Amino acid sequence: MPYPFQIQTRSDYDQQYAKSIEDPIGFWSEIASHFKFSKKWDQVLSWNFKEPRIKWFEGAKLNITENCIDRHLESKMDQPAIIWEANDPLENERIITYKELHQTVCEFAAVLKRHGVQKGDRVCIYMGMIPELVIAMLACARIGAIHNVVFGGFSAQSLIDRIQDAQVSCVISCDGAFRGPKTIELKAIVDEALLQCPTVKTQIVYQRTHSKINMLEGRDFWWHEELTKINSLHSVSTAPEPMDAEDMLFILYTSGSTGKPKGVVHTCAGYMIYACYSFVNVFQYKKKQIHFCTADIGWITGHSYIVYGPLCAGATTLLYEGIPTWPDPGRLWDIIDKFQVNILYTAPTAIRSLMSFGETWFENKKLDSLKVLGSVGEPINEEAWEWYSEHVGHSNCPIVDTWWQTETGGILISNLAGVTPQKPSFATLPLPGIQACLVTDDGQEISEHEIDGFLCIKFPWPGMLRTTYGDHERFRKNYFDRFEDLYFSGDGAKRDENGLYRITGRVDDVLKISGHRIGTAEVENAVNSLEDVTESAVVGYPHPIKGQAIYAFVIYNGTNSNYEQLKAGINEHIQTHIGPIAKADKIQIVKGLPKTRSGKIMRRILRKIACGELHELGDTSTLLDPGVVDEIIANRII
Ligand code: WT7
Repeated sequence: MPYPFQIQTRSDYDQQYAKSIEDPIGFWSEIASHFKFSKKWDQVLSWNFKEPRIKWFEGAKLNITENCIDRHLESKMDQPAIIWEANDPLENERIITYKELHQTVCEFAAVLKRHGVQKGDRVCIYMGMIPELVIAMLACARIGAIHNVVFGGFSAQSLIDRIQDAQVSCVISCDGAFRGPKTIELKAIVDEALLQCPTVKTQIVYQRTHSKINMLEGRDFWWHEELTKINSLHSVSTAPEPMDAEDMLFILYTSGSTGKPKGVVHTCAGYMIYACYSFVNVFQYKKKQIHFCTADIGWITGHSYIVYGPLCAGATTLLYEGIPTWPDPGRLWDIIDKFQVNILYTAPTAIRSLMSFGETWFENKKLDSLKVLGSVGEPINEEAWEWYSEHVGHSNCPIVDTWWQTETGGILISNLAGVTPQKPSFATLPLPGIQACLVTDDGQEISEHEIDGFLCIKFPWPGMLRTTYGDHERFRKNYFDRFEDLYFSGDGAKRDENGLYRITGRVDDVLKISGHRIGTAEVENAVNSLEDVTESAVVGYPHPIKGQAIYAFVIYNGTNSNYEQLKAGINEHIQTHIGPIAKADKIQIVKGLPKTRSGKIMRRILRKIACGELHELGDTSTLLDPGVVDEIIANRII
């Protein structure tokens, strides 16, 4: 039996899409009827992009964990919910059935309750890729606490920003995390951060690496010890907290064009329905299949397509602790063969990186269980697309190129695997319910094909963000201010003669470095906070593996004349402020930056210089001092 809302054919897609536009209320209420609510909604949608206010399924009561776990207990009790593969190939895998997931989530939810965590409280989760990370998220959702997962690669300072902004009361962490050849000392990073986070009263620590750590009496508690305090002789059943449809489910921080990351807020009902609907349709998930998404749960991709989408659909989701290239670049292929994975969802940067190691890593790998491949996070170039299709998919698997954002909750533009047409480097068509459009600089919608413009969405969809935490005005400004009555994505896109979309990339000051989203202002803040740095400007330039890399122009007033030392020092500083993902590949020490008479840095010129497009600098006559451009070009780093 296919899922009731699974699109089967191209004409089915056309019909569903048409229905979703003509009657969005009828369309989404039919889909919602397949989920478990303890009270039905009074109103499917009320909205206004001016205020902005978006509410889906108001009046309904539900708990997402009932939909992700309890609902499957009868028919899928012993089916694996999570398959976990350790970083070290010699360590045993762990298989967690739906029944076991129910048990452990209930137990850990009871631990949180015992520590006074209540509905509405913010809980920060800072862990490696282990099943307990999923259990911690679901336990929060079970009791109505709002989780705020922070990627384990972020620094103490980033953790401080995210804990302070969300006023977190409880942190769930690990002693450490294994990632390829490295051990990341997570607990030590949390301890450093908590010196500046007085709102945090409790930390629960899962023991993974057995690293030596300090436990602060009265604040820090071991996960395993706390569990034994719960009555484990009888299976604990923590009742799911009845949540309003529009209660917050989680906050996830992401970068924008200012220096401060914003807390994207997703709510219970709409997010759940959209994550599950898009999962089932884009990947064409069939019951009992094994779905492997390689993203980290610290990003939205992990939230929606490792945890909530698959579990809500009763799928088996594969969680891998390590990285694709360790101990060797055949690691993903081994995992796929070992567990007979059917769906692989990864990022172009991972594909290009594996490509660079050559095809010998496919020797003795079958990969014949694969049915569908997916790509996410940045534009996928044709060469990588073809390689992925040929060497991983054996020219036998459709590839879904999925465009979406932290803010959108789920995939908005993508082909549906094997159902709607695919075209290399095109995300293709919007999902039903998604009213995508292209607009000109002055906000006019462009109706013709073979054109490019700013990518916007005209109508709400259930998975969209509802606000930015603690700052609703920022939410309005960021997404609804540039173009009237439209959600603006920050991306540019082209449409071909058949109406298929090709995403061309960000048009704001947001970079995608190896698929990670980083604001140029964030990096500049980090660099500028270094003693002896007067000012800096950060831009992106194309990189063969990372997609984009960082080029920093820095005005330095210190005495260190050893360039390599200086560069290393600046990068070390970026690493402690943000994390290793934001390090600059190129750093140029400059005497001045190109500025307008009003003092604005002309990043457009720096971007051209970084990209080597020296003949396209455009008009530099409005610059305060055009001479700085010549100096920068003369010393540019190639
Ligand atoms: C930005 C959002 C979506 C989850 C992971 C990233 C870029 C995303 C694609 C794609 C071209 C893409 C966009 C978008 N992006 N998917 N298939 N083709 N570009 O989420 O960190 O919020 O980043 O990633 O620029 O705005 P995110």
